[in-house]
Amino acid sequence: MSTDPTVLAEAAAPDAERLLADLPPTPAVWCSGLRKRYRKQTAVDDVSFTVGRGEVLGLLGPNGAGKTSVIKILLGLVRPDAGEVLLLGRPGTDPQARARVGYLPELFRYQPWLTAAEVLALHVRLAGAAVPAREQRESLALVGLTDRAGDRVGGFSKGMQQRLGLAVALVARPELVLLDEPTSALDPIGRADVRDLLLSLKERRVAVLLNSHLIGEVERVCDRVVILDKGRVAASGTLAELLGQRELRLRLDEVSAEAEARLAAAGQLTHSGDSYTVTLPADQSATMVPDLVAELVRLGVRVHAVEPARISLEERLLDILRAGTGGDR
Ligand SMILES: Nc1ncnc2c1ncn2[C@@H]1O[C@H](COP(=O)(O)OP(=O)(O)OP(=O)(O)O)[C@@H](O)[C@H]1O
Ligand SMILES: [Mg+2]
Repeated sequence: MSTDPTVLAEAAAPDAERLLADLPPTPAVWCSGLRKRYRKQTAVDDVSFTVGRGEVLGLLGPNGAGKTSVIKILLGLVRPDAGEVLLLGRPGTDPQARARVGYLPELFRYQPWLTAAEVLALHVRLAGAAVPAREQRESLALVGLTDRAGDRVGGFSKGMQQRLGLAVALVARPELVLLDEPTSALDPIGRADVRDLLLSLKERRVAVLLNSHLIGEVERVCDRVVILDKGRVAASGTLAELLGQRELRLRLDEVSAEAEARLAAAGQLTHSGDSYTVTLPADQSATMVPDLVAELVRLGVRVHAVEPARISLEERLLDILRAGTGGDR
Protein backbone atom coordinates (compact mmCIF):
# COMPACT_ATOMS: atom_id res chain seq x y z
CA MET A 1 0.00 0.00 0.00
CA SER A 2 1.34 3.44 -0.92
CA THR A 3 2.11 5.95 1.79
CA ASP A 4 1.91 8.89 -0.64
CA PRO A 5 -0.68 11.22 1.00
CA THR A 6 -2.25 12.21 -2.36
CA VAL A 7 -2.84 8.56 -3.25
CA LEU A 8 -4.33 7.93 0.20
CA ALA A 9 -6.63 10.95 -0.12
CA GLU A 10 -7.84 9.79 -3.54
CA ALA A 11 -8.56 6.31 -2.24
CA ALA A 12 -10.38 7.67 0.83
CA ALA A 13 -12.64 10.11 -1.04
CA PRO A 14 -15.21 7.59 -2.41
CA ASP A 15 -15.24 5.84 0.97
CA ALA A 16 -15.92 9.12 2.72
CA GLU A 17 -18.74 9.86 0.27
CA ARG A 18 -20.24 6.43 0.84
CA LEU A 19 -19.94 6.91 4.58
CA LEU A 20 -21.71 10.24 4.38
CA ALA A 21 -24.45 8.81 2.17
CA ASP A 22 -25.00 6.01 4.70
CA LEU A 23 -25.40 8.39 7.61
CA PRO A 24 -28.99 8.87 8.76
CA PRO A 25 -30.38 12.20 7.47
CA THR A 26 -30.00 15.10 9.86
CA PRO A 27 -33.23 16.12 11.58
CA ALA A 28 -35.38 18.76 9.90
CA VAL A 29 -35.18 20.88 13.06
CA TRP A 30 -32.68 20.61 15.88
CA CYS A 31 -32.68 23.26 18.55
CA SER A 32 -31.02 23.35 21.92
CA GLY A 33 -31.17 25.64 24.95
CA LEU A 34 -33.26 28.39 23.31
CA ARG A 35 -33.88 31.39 25.56
CA LYS A 36 -35.53 34.73 24.93
CA ARG A 37 -36.51 37.54 27.29
CA TYR A 38 -38.44 40.68 26.44
CA ARG A 39 -37.55 43.13 29.21
CA LYS A 40 -38.91 41.41 32.35
CA GLN A 41 -40.96 38.90 30.38
CA THR A 42 -39.36 35.50 29.80
CA ALA A 43 -40.85 34.25 26.53
CA VAL A 44 -38.68 31.16 25.94
CA ASP A 45 -36.77 29.42 28.71
CA ASP A 46 -34.34 26.61 27.83
CA VAL A 47 -36.31 24.96 25.02
CA SER A 48 -34.77 22.03 23.13
CA PHE A 49 -36.39 19.59 20.70
CA THR A 50 -36.01 17.99 17.30
CA VAL A 51 -38.34 17.37 14.37
CA GLY A 52 -37.36 14.35 12.28
CA ARG A 53 -37.55 14.26 8.47
CA GLY A 54 -41.12 13.58 7.46
CA GLU A 55 -42.33 13.99 11.01
CA VAL A 56 -45.28 16.16 12.07
CA LEU A 57 -44.61 17.77 15.43
CA GLY A 58 -47.30 19.68 17.33
CA LEU A 59 -46.29 22.60 19.52
CA LEU A 60 -49.00 23.12 22.13
CA GLY A 61 -49.52 25.43 25.07
CA PRO A 62 -51.69 28.23 26.42
CA ASN A 63 -51.65 31.83 25.16
CA GLY A 64 -48.29 33.41 25.85
CA ALA A 65 -46.53 30.04 26.37
CA GLY A 66 -43.85 31.00 23.82
CA LYS A 67 -44.92 28.96 20.77
CA THR A 68 -44.73 31.79 18.25
CA SER A 69 -41.48 33.03 19.80
CA VAL A 70 -39.92 29.57 19.32
CA ILE A 71 -41.04 29.42 15.68
CA LYS A 72 -39.64 32.92 15.04
CA ILE A 73 -36.33 31.99 16.66
CA LEU A 74 -36.09 28.88 14.47
CA LEU A 75 -36.63 31.04 11.40
CA GLY A 76 -34.15 33.71 12.47
CA LEU A 77 -36.92 36.35 12.71
CA VAL A 78 -36.19 36.76 16.44
CA ARG A 79 -32.65 36.62 17.79
CA PRO A 80 -32.46 34.33 20.86
CA ASP A 81 -30.50 35.35 23.97
CA ALA A 82 -29.04 31.85 24.00
CA GLY A 83 -29.32 28.54 22.17
CA GLU A 84 -28.58 26.99 18.83
CA VAL A 85 -30.68 26.12 15.79
CA LEU A 86 -30.02 23.73 12.91
CA LEU A 87 -32.53 23.53 10.06
CA LEU A 88 -32.12 20.63 7.65
CA GLY A 89 -28.63 20.06 9.02
CA ARG A 90 -27.42 23.63 8.49
CA PRO A 91 -27.22 26.63 10.81
CA GLY A 92 -30.61 28.36 10.96
CA THR A 93 -29.05 31.52 9.50
CA ASP A 94 -27.79 29.75 6.34
CA PRO A 95 -29.77 30.99 3.31
CA GLN A 96 -29.44 27.52 1.70
CA ALA A 97 -31.40 26.02 4.61
CA ARG A 98 -33.96 28.82 4.67
CA ALA A 99 -34.73 28.43 0.96
CA ARG A 100 -36.05 24.92 1.72
CA VAL A 101 -38.29 26.02 4.60
CA GLY A 102 -41.93 27.10 4.19
CA TYR A 103 -43.59 29.37 6.74
CA LEU A 104 -47.13 30.46 7.50
CA PRO A 105 -47.01 33.28 10.09
CA GLU A 106 -49.52 33.65 12.90
CA LEU A 107 -50.47 37.14 11.68
CA PHE A 108 -50.47 36.87 7.91
CA ARG A 109 -50.90 39.75 5.49
CA TYR A 110 -50.13 39.75 1.83
CA GLN A 111 -49.71 42.66 -0.57
CA PRO A 112 -53.36 43.78 -1.09
CA TRP A 113 -52.64 45.21 -4.57
CA LEU A 114 -51.36 41.88 -5.95
CA THR A 115 -53.48 38.99 -7.19
CA ALA A 116 -53.21 35.61 -5.46
CA ALA A 117 -51.20 34.24 -8.42
CA GLU A 118 -48.84 37.24 -8.25
CA VAL A 119 -48.27 36.76 -4.49
CA LEU A 120 -47.28 33.17 -5.16
CA ALA A 121 -44.97 34.12 -8.04
CA LEU A 122 -43.32 36.73 -5.80
CA HIS A 123 -42.62 34.18 -3.08
CA VAL A 124 -41.27 31.69 -5.59
CA ARG A 125 -38.80 34.38 -6.73
CA LEU A 126 -37.90 35.26 -3.12
CA ALA A 127 -37.18 31.57 -2.42
CA GLY A 128 -34.94 31.46 -5.50
CA ALA A 129 -36.77 28.35 -6.65
CA ALA A 130 -37.69 27.37 -10.21
CA VAL A 131 -41.35 26.44 -9.86
CA PRO A 132 -43.22 26.29 -13.18
CA ALA A 133 -46.48 28.26 -13.53
CA ARG A 134 -48.45 25.00 -13.74
CA GLU A 135 -47.12 23.92 -10.34
CA GLN A 136 -47.92 27.34 -8.88
CA ARG A 137 -51.51 26.95 -10.10
CA GLU A 138 -51.60 23.51 -8.47
CA SER A 139 -50.59 25.09 -5.14
CA LEU A 140 -53.58 27.43 -5.37
CA ALA A 141 -55.83 24.49 -6.27
CA LEU A 142 -54.51 22.61 -3.22
CA VAL A 143 -55.90 25.33 -0.94
CA GLY A 144 -59.13 25.78 -2.91
CA LEU A 145 -58.31 29.15 -4.48
CA THR A 146 -58.29 28.22 -8.18
CA ASP A 147 -61.29 30.44 -8.90
CA ARG A 148 -59.71 33.43 -7.16
CA ALA A 149 -56.20 33.22 -8.67
CA GLY A 150 -56.67 36.45 -10.66
CA ASP A 151 -58.39 38.44 -7.88
CA ARG A 152 -56.62 41.04 -5.76
CA VAL A 153 -55.76 39.85 -2.26
CA GLY A 154 -57.11 43.11 -0.74
CA GLY A 155 -60.61 41.80 -1.41
CA PHE A 156 -60.02 38.38 0.17
CA SER A 157 -61.74 37.21 3.37
CA LYS A 158 -59.51 36.31 6.33
CA GLY A 159 -59.89 32.58 5.68
CA MET A 160 -59.06 33.05 1.99
CA GLN A 161 -55.90 34.98 2.97
CA GLN A 162 -54.93 32.14 5.31
CA ARG A 163 -55.44 29.64 2.48
CA LEU A 164 -53.18 31.81 0.31
CA GLY A 165 -50.65 31.83 3.17
CA LEU A 166 -50.64 28.04 3.14
CA ALA A 167 -50.06 28.01 -0.62
CA VAL A 168 -47.18 30.48 -0.11
CA ALA A 169 -45.67 28.21 2.57
CA LEU A 170 -45.86 25.17 0.30
CA VAL A 171 -45.24 26.49 -3.23
CA ALA A 172 -41.43 26.37 -3.32
CA ARG A 173 -41.31 22.61 -2.53
CA PRO A 174 -40.04 22.96 1.05
CA GLU A 175 -38.53 20.06 3.00
CA LEU A 176 -39.69 21.63 6.26
CA VAL A 177 -42.83 23.67 6.90
CA LEU A 178 -43.50 25.79 9.98
CA LEU A 179 -47.19 26.61 10.42
CA ASP A 180 -48.24 28.99 13.20
CA GLU A 181 -51.96 28.26 13.75
CA PRO A 182 -52.75 27.35 10.14
CA THR A 183 -56.47 26.89 10.72
CA SER A 184 -57.22 29.85 13.01
CA ALA A 185 -59.34 31.61 10.35
CA LEU A 186 -60.70 28.57 8.52
CA ASP A 187 -64.21 27.14 8.36
CA PRO A 188 -64.71 23.45 9.26
CA ILE A 189 -64.23 22.32 5.66
CA GLY A 190 -61.06 24.38 5.40
CA ARG A 191 -59.77 22.73 8.58
CA ALA A 192 -60.48 19.27 7.22
CA ASP A 193 -58.66 20.28 4.00
CA VAL A 194 -55.62 21.35 6.01
CA ARG A 195 -55.67 18.06 7.85
CA ASP A 196 -55.59 16.18 4.51
CA LEU A 197 -52.86 18.51 3.31
CA LEU A 198 -50.74 17.77 6.37
CA LEU A 199 -51.20 14.05 5.86
CA SER A 200 -50.14 14.35 2.21
CA LEU A 201 -47.03 16.31 3.30
CA LYS A 202 -46.24 13.51 5.73
CA GLU A 203 -46.53 10.98 2.90
CA ARG A 204 -44.04 13.04 0.87
CA ARG A 205 -41.65 13.05 3.88
CA VAL A 206 -41.96 16.83 4.34
CA ALA A 207 -41.37 17.69 8.00
CA VAL A 208 -43.98 19.91 9.67
CA LEU A 209 -43.86 21.93 12.87
CA LEU A 210 -47.40 22.94 13.68
CA ASN A 211 -48.80 25.14 16.38
CA SER A 212 -52.54 25.04 17.02
CA HIS A 213 -55.08 25.49 19.78
CA LEU A 214 -57.37 22.95 18.08
CA ILE A 215 -56.09 20.00 20.02
CA GLY A 216 -58.30 17.46 18.29
CA GLU A 217 -56.60 18.38 15.01
CA VAL A 218 -53.15 18.06 16.52
CA GLU A 219 -54.10 14.66 17.92
CA ARG A 220 -55.19 13.48 14.47
CA VAL A 221 -52.12 14.52 12.47
CA CYS A 222 -49.12 14.83 14.79
CA ASP A 223 -46.59 12.07 15.43
CA ARG A 224 -45.14 13.84 18.43
CA VAL A 225 -46.08 16.75 20.64
CA VAL A 226 -44.10 19.33 22.62
CA ILE A 227 -46.10 21.13 25.30
CA LEU A 228 -44.85 24.57 26.31
CA ASP A 229 -45.89 26.38 29.46
CA LYS A 230 -44.47 29.75 30.52
CA GLY A 231 -41.66 29.37 28.01
CA ARG A 232 -40.54 25.94 29.22
CA VAL A 233 -41.07 22.43 27.86
CA ALA A 234 -43.67 21.02 30.27
CA ALA A 235 -43.92 17.64 28.49
CA SER A 236 -42.98 16.06 25.19
CA GLY A 237 -43.26 12.71 23.49
CA THR A 238 -45.24 10.63 21.05
CA LEU A 239 -49.00 10.60 21.48
CA ALA A 240 -48.76 7.03 22.78
CA GLU A 241 -46.22 8.13 25.38
CA LEU A 242 -48.21 11.17 26.46
CA LEU A 243 -51.62 9.55 26.45
CA GLY A 244 -50.34 6.34 27.93
CA GLN A 245 -52.80 3.68 28.86
CA ARG A 246 -56.19 2.85 27.51
CA GLU A 247 -59.15 1.81 29.57
CA LEU A 248 -61.77 -0.78 28.83
CA ARG A 249 -65.10 -0.22 30.55
CA LEU A 250 -67.43 -3.22 30.75
CA ARG A 251 -70.88 -3.89 32.17
CA LEU A 252 -71.09 -7.54 33.16
CA ASP A 253 -73.03 -9.95 35.32
CA GLU A 254 -72.70 -13.57 36.36
CA VAL A 255 -68.95 -13.00 36.75
CA SER A 256 -67.37 -16.12 38.27
CA ALA A 257 -64.09 -16.04 40.20
CA GLU A 258 -62.44 -17.56 37.14
CA ALA A 259 -63.80 -14.80 34.86
CA GLU A 260 -62.67 -12.15 37.31
CA ALA A 261 -59.17 -13.65 37.29
CA ARG A 262 -59.23 -13.52 33.47
CA LEU A 263 -60.17 -9.82 33.58
CA ALA A 264 -57.41 -9.10 36.10
CA ALA A 265 -54.91 -10.86 33.82
CA ALA A 266 -55.73 -8.36 31.03
CA GLY A 267 -54.79 -5.32 33.11
CA GLN A 268 -55.38 -3.52 36.38
CA LEU A 269 -58.99 -4.24 37.39
CA THR A 270 -61.45 -2.16 39.43
CA HIS A 271 -65.15 -2.83 39.80
CA SER A 272 -68.26 -1.52 41.49
CA GLY A 273 -71.58 -3.34 41.04
CA ASP A 274 -71.80 -4.55 37.45
CA SER A 275 -69.27 -1.95 36.14
CA TYR A 276 -65.77 -3.23 35.54
CA THR A 277 -62.82 -1.11 34.39
CA VAL A 278 -59.63 -2.68 33.07
CA THR A 279 -56.63 -0.40 32.54
CA LEU A 280 -54.81 -1.87 29.57
CA PRO A 281 -51.09 -1.60 28.91
CA ALA A 282 -50.10 0.72 26.01
CA ASP A 283 -48.62 -2.17 23.97
CA GLN A 284 -51.75 -4.36 23.88
CA SER A 285 -52.43 -6.31 20.71
CA ALA A 286 -55.21 -5.37 18.28
CA THR A 287 -57.16 -8.56 19.05
CA MET A 288 -56.92 -8.20 22.82
CA VAL A 289 -60.45 -6.82 23.33
CA PRO A 290 -62.35 -9.33 21.12
CA ASP A 291 -60.27 -12.20 22.60
CA LEU A 292 -61.14 -11.10 26.12
CA VAL A 293 -64.86 -10.76 25.32
CA ALA A 294 -64.95 -14.19 23.64
CA GLU A 295 -63.36 -15.78 26.67
CA LEU A 296 -65.68 -14.03 29.11
CA VAL A 297 -68.66 -15.35 27.15
CA ARG A 298 -67.12 -18.86 27.19
CA LEU A 299 -66.80 -18.59 30.98
CA GLY A 300 -70.54 -17.89 31.20
CA VAL A 301 -70.35 -14.13 31.80
CA ARG A 302 -73.30 -12.05 30.48
CA VAL A 303 -71.72 -9.11 28.59
CA HIS A 304 -74.00 -6.02 28.44
CA ALA A 305 -71.51 -3.38 27.30
CA VAL A 306 -67.86 -3.05 26.23
CA GLU A 307 -66.50 0.45 25.77
CA PRO A 308 -62.85 1.14 24.98
CA ALA A 309 -61.83 4.62 26.17
CA ARG A 310 -58.67 6.61 25.97
CA ILE A 311 -57.77 9.80 27.73
CA SER A 312 -57.82 12.57 25.12
CA LEU A 313 -54.88 14.86 24.37
CA GLU A 314 -57.02 17.72 25.60
CA GLU A 315 -57.54 16.09 29.03
CA ARG A 316 -53.83 15.25 29.21
CA LEU A 317 -52.82 18.79 28.23
CA LEU A 318 -55.05 20.28 30.92
CA ASP A 319 -53.60 17.86 33.52
CA ILE A 320 -50.05 18.86 32.57
CA LEU A 321 -50.77 22.59 32.59
CA ARG A 322 -52.67 22.43 35.90
CA ALA A 323 -49.82 20.44 37.49
CA GLY A 324 -47.56 23.39 36.63
CA THR A 325 -44.31 23.69 34.69
CA GLY A 326 -41.73 21.07 35.53
CA GLY A 327 -44.23 18.94 37.42
CA ASP A 328 -44.60 16.35 34.71
CA ARG A 329 -41.77 16.00 32.26
N1 LIG B 1 -42.17 41.49 20.42
C1 LIG B 1 -42.45 41.26 21.70
N2 LIG B 1 -42.24 42.20 22.65
C2 LIG B 1 -42.49 41.96 23.95
N3 LIG B 1 -42.96 40.80 24.42
C3 LIG B 1 -43.19 39.81 23.54
C4 LIG B 1 -42.94 39.99 22.13
N4 LIG B 1 -43.25 38.82 21.50
C5 LIG B 1 -43.68 37.97 22.46
N5 LIG B 1 -43.65 38.56 23.68
C6 LIG B 1 -44.04 37.93 24.96
O1 LIG B 1 -43.51 36.62 24.99
C7 LIG B 1 -44.44 35.72 25.56
C8 LIG B 1 -44.69 34.57 24.58
O2 LIG B 1 -45.40 35.05 23.45
P1 LIG B 1 -45.72 34.16 22.18
O3 LIG B 1 -46.32 35.04 21.14
O4 LIG B 1 -44.51 33.39 21.82
O5 LIG B 1 -46.82 33.18 22.78
P2 LIG B 1 -47.72 32.05 22.05
O6 LIG B 1 -47.47 30.78 22.79
O7 LIG B 1 -47.49 32.06 20.59
O8 LIG B 1 -49.19 32.56 22.41
P3 LIG B 1 -50.57 32.52 21.53
O9 LIG B 1 -51.16 31.16 21.76
O10 LIG B 1 -51.41 33.57 22.18
O11 LIG B 1 -50.24 32.81 20.12
C9 LIG B 1 -45.67 36.53 25.92
O12 LIG B 1 -45.62 36.85 27.29
C10 LIG B 1 -45.53 37.78 25.07
O13 LIG B 1 -46.11 38.89 25.71
MG1 LIG C 1 -48.66 32.47 18.97
